Amino acid sequence: MGAQPAFTGHPVITWDDLGGFPDGVEIGMIWAQTTDGVIGDGADMPWYLPEDLKHFQTTTLGTPVVMGRISWEALDPRYRPLPGRDNHVISRDAAYDAPGATVHTSLPGAVTAAGLSALELGVSTVWILGGGHVYRQCVPVADRVVVTDIACGAPERFTVRAPDMRAETDFTVADGPWLGSARGTALTGEHPLRYRICEFTRTTGGRRTRPARSSGSTGTTL
Ligand SMILES: NC(=O)c1ccc[n+]([C@@H]2O[C@H](COP(=O)([O-])OP(=O)(O)OC[C@H]3O[C@@H](n4cnc5c(N)ncnc54)[C@H](OP(=O)(O)O)[C@@H]3O)[C@@H](O)[C@H]2O)c1
Repeated sequence: MGAQPAFTGHPVITWDDLGGFPDGVEIGMIWAQTTDGVIGDGADMPWYLPEDLKHFQTTTLGTPVVMGRISWEALDPRYRPLPGRDNHVISRDAAYDAPGATVHTSLPGAVTAAGLSALELGVSTVWILGGGHVYRQCVPVADRVVVTDIACGAPERFTVRAPDMRAETDFTVADGPWLGSARGTALTGEHPLRYRICEFTRTTGGRRTRPARSSGSTGTTL
């Protein structure tokens, strides 16, 4: 990355920034968080939850995905680029090398390219994969947000947080049942690890034309 200063944030994007985004394609965001909203420390997550990895893969496989440079680098190199998905990475550095992915210097540019890719691929959802900076910028254009709520804490160094979707008045939430993980672990030791999948659907705001709903397909690895 050379001498690039730390990214300190960017204004949110709106539908005015996404003029070229195709109709009929949904913008989804997906993440897993502690019940307190923590999603990472810049490189890792404070839990291991195989059921959520499976859910993530099932939901996103076959679709275009958009992520920030830090989230890209946080991916296990075995799953970078995320297989079976059209990977789009955002960095301020136009020369940033992300083998197997398309690099964009503009977040609206990345989301629009992913939308056009969805049309080409014949899928109707683009998934925003994080991290904290990217989720925050994209809340105003998200149609749907899928959050795995994990009943655990996190050590202090985990300072990256997701937007607080329960404070967003333009979405309604459907909370799934709490489930127990067979093999999940948390750095803070909760056992058995409990989790639930919560889906936030936009009811007001955003664009006027509502997109079709879809998901990806199924598979076995991340
Ligand atoms: N729990 C989960 O589900 C989940 C999901 C995803 C990520 N995570 C975690 O989240 C953490 C990373 O999140 P983060 O907030 O630190 O970083 P991030 O959002 O992944 O990436 C931030 C970087 O993306 C680029 N960027 C973002 N917005 C941009 C814009 N508008 N224009 C140009 N470039 C832009 C910049 O890259 P440059 O610095 O190169 O310019 C910026 O430094 C990691 O710990 C990861 O594991 C967790």
